[in-house]
Amino acid sequence: TLEELKNVHQGYIKVSAANTSIYFITRMLAGFSQQNEGITVSLNITNRKTLVEQLQNYEADLVVMGEPPANLDLHSQRLMCNPLVLIAPANHPLAGQKDIPVSAIIGEKFVVREPGSGTRAAIERFFAEHGHTFSSTLEMGSNESIKYSVIAGLGLGIVSLHSIQLEIETHSLAILDVVGFPIQRYWHIVTREGKWLSPAAQAFKEYVIAEAATYSQDYQQLLLA
Ligand code: PGA
Repeated sequence: TLEELKNVHQGYIKVSAANTSIYFITRMLAGFSQQNEGITVSLNITNRKTLVEQLQNYEADLVVMGEPPANLDLHSQRLMCNPLVLIAPANHPLAGQKDIPVSAIIGEKFVVREPGSGTRAAIERFFAEHGHTFSSTLEMGSNESIKYSVIAGLGLGIVSLHSIQLEIETHSLAILDVVGFPIQRYWHIVTREGKWLSPAAQAFKEYVIAEAATYSQDYQQLLLA
């Protein structure tokens, strides 16, 4: 009925999203809010470990994350790629070289995310698969601090391609072409089985899924820049 349709445009949604997703989820929120002025979205930004706890406790309506946990009853839909790239200061000696072997970067200092971050877990898996461990590591709880540390010359970083769009466009960072990179990951939108989804939350979920298709193409262009 008309009344039901109108209600879709009102409500309060609790969205929890990985730190690393802010680079696209904020843009999606802006578009959604323009179309749905009556809906208030509360966005909680945190790392993967906390997102898993929130799913366990039925806290969030919708969760945007890298890897949905396998041990919970969830509805999970893949949104788009989340390539992890190796970043260096723009003037790094390896910048611009092709097919750099992993062994060439193993002795470098790395600036990486904290334990509990999904990005961090993926990096550890990558190095374990290649039979390496980090020699010297600085840990930081935000992608922004990692970027600035790498620009300042503290070490190399491994971050989501989504987090460095501006720095690539302004040539303040270089992506190193190391064999095995980018580490391929995916974003998902996740709900807990048994948690009721309001029409407003359902509308936001559908909006995010529809937008993700176009965003994916935008970000792939960055790798070629
Ligand atoms: P995070 O991102 O590293 O900010 O926890 C989640 C993920 O990429 O899995």
